[in-house]
Amino acid sequence: MTTSNAPVAAEQRETWTSSTGFILAAIGSAVGLGNIWRFPGVAYESGGGAFLIPYLVALLTAGIPILFLDYSIGHRYRAAAPLAYRRMAKPTETLGWFQIMLSFVIAVYYAAVIAWAASYFIFAFNLRWGQDTLGFFVGEYLKVGDPEISTTVVPAVAVPLVLVWVAVLVVIALGVTAGVQKVNVIFIPLLGVAFLGLVIRALTLPGAMDGLNAFFTPDWGALADLNVWIAAYSQIFFSLSIAFGIMVTYASYQRRKANMTSSGLVVAFANSSFEILAGIGVFATLGFMANQQSVQVSELEGLTGPILSFVTFPAVINEMPGGAIFGVVFFGSLILAGFTSIISILLGVAASVQEKFGLSRRGSAILVSGICAVLSVLLFSTTSGLLALDTVDQWANNVGIVLSAIVMTVLVVWVFRKSETLRRHLNAVSTFQVGRIWIALIGVVAPAFLVIMLGQKLVSLVNDGYEGLPQWYLNLFGWGTIVFVVVAAVVLSAIPWKGRDDEKFVPWPDVDKEVTR
Ligand code: PHE
Repeated sequence: MTTSNAPVAAEQRETWTSSTGFILAAIGSAVGLGNIWRFPGVAYESGGGAFLIPYLVALLTAGIPILFLDYSIGHRYRAAAPLAYRRMAKPTETLGWFQIMLSFVIAVYYAAVIAWAASYFIFAFNLRWGQDTLGFFVGEYLKVGDPEISTTVVPAVAVPLVLVWVAVLVVIALGVTAGVQKVNVIFIPLLGVAFLGLVIRALTLPGAMDGLNAFFTPDWGALADLNVWIAAYSQIFFSLSIAFGIMVTYASYQRRKANMTSSGLVVAFANSSFEILAGIGVFATLGFMANQQSVQVSELEGLTGPILSFVTFPAVINEMPGGAIFGVVFFGSLILAGFTSIISILLGVAASVQEKFGLSRRGSAILVSGICAVLSVLLFSTTSGLLALDTVDQWANNVGIVLSAIVMTVLVVWVFRKSETLRRHLNAVSTFQVGRIWIALIGVVAPAFLVIMLGQKLVSLVNDGYEGLPQWYLNLFGWGTIVFVVVAAVVLSAIPWKGRDDEKFVPWPDVDKEVTR
């Protein structure tokens, strides 16, 4: 990277080679573990069919508008989050690092879940988990201990975990076009076909319809519960990968002729469709399980989070004719979905470090993946890994990301007053035109709701703790996560730029004529 004064617009930045390349990569980031193991359980617990209402409201009032906001910042200021924010308004660099550090935290544990999926993919061939799938998962496989800081690494987890990081490193080092885009162009269609196959198989199992009834039967009373709305908003944020700085980075690799808003609508629609499809597949399968055990679906346990994928599903697979094939395809899908998401996070982190410190692409890929790999192994492949993972996830996704979205919308709309410029930018490059309602949504509706939501969550975490875990443990892994992200963001933005910090940055000159007209 040079520090010359050559016009920045002429800068050679890698790009996606087509809109399809960008859209597939953005779908790859969005469709992940969150769609498969988070959505079905959250929807079921939060009102079933009635949950679709808060879910749609969250998608339309916050999800798509903030996705557009991420895209507009990335495409206009053409850099990974910290530099893009800095080019927009210097002090917002810290927000960029806050989002990137939050993504970094997520990557460190997300990799562990992909590693579990990789192990289970192999176990599925001969149903290695046996009859007691819970005992196998927490006992034999993860060797879960007490909430303590264990340094006993479990090799069965650590080995696939290191392999995941090596694979991530290779893709990021290859770059946007030859690495990330290529992986997505192959993996996303493959995932679509594999998952569709699973859902069709699930729908033909006896009892499938009972599962779907349990899933879709609306509990209208749930709509009066604030927690249900909170669940809908956090699901949308995590699932669309928004307010993490990741979509800012992805959009920065778009060419001048980008049609950002239309791509955004395609991505959002694809992500939600996949989510609903996952809900149908998972509940059809659970209907079969209830049918085998002659109980109601509502009497089943273990319908959320890792337990759903790694305990309940193996148990169903045991009872299913041709279960091994189903298991292989299911865990294979988890790997594909998770891998295309984690490479998006790592690209965001590695590109930010590369720009700030003036490193080469390979150099920053090796540095960042190396640090992530070491932390992943030390924190999440030990006997205390599952608990730590659950606690970090709770704080990162319910506190960290909500805080990020609030700060982001308030700074852009109210403090630095960039929303009109960004709106015109989007409209100058896109066919789907964004009206002023967009500014009302990102400036008022979304932040107002997010503040209420964050307040409620903080009160409950402070008063009730989490899952009965000891306070010191929550301080360390829960609140500690937030403190770590804030401190790291402040420190990283205080370090002087070693890469190009072009204050005279010119957004696309031809677009700008329209924007400032
Ligand atoms: N959206 C991904 C999922 O649903 C997770 C993710 C979060 C990816 C944040 C990138 C950034 O699993």
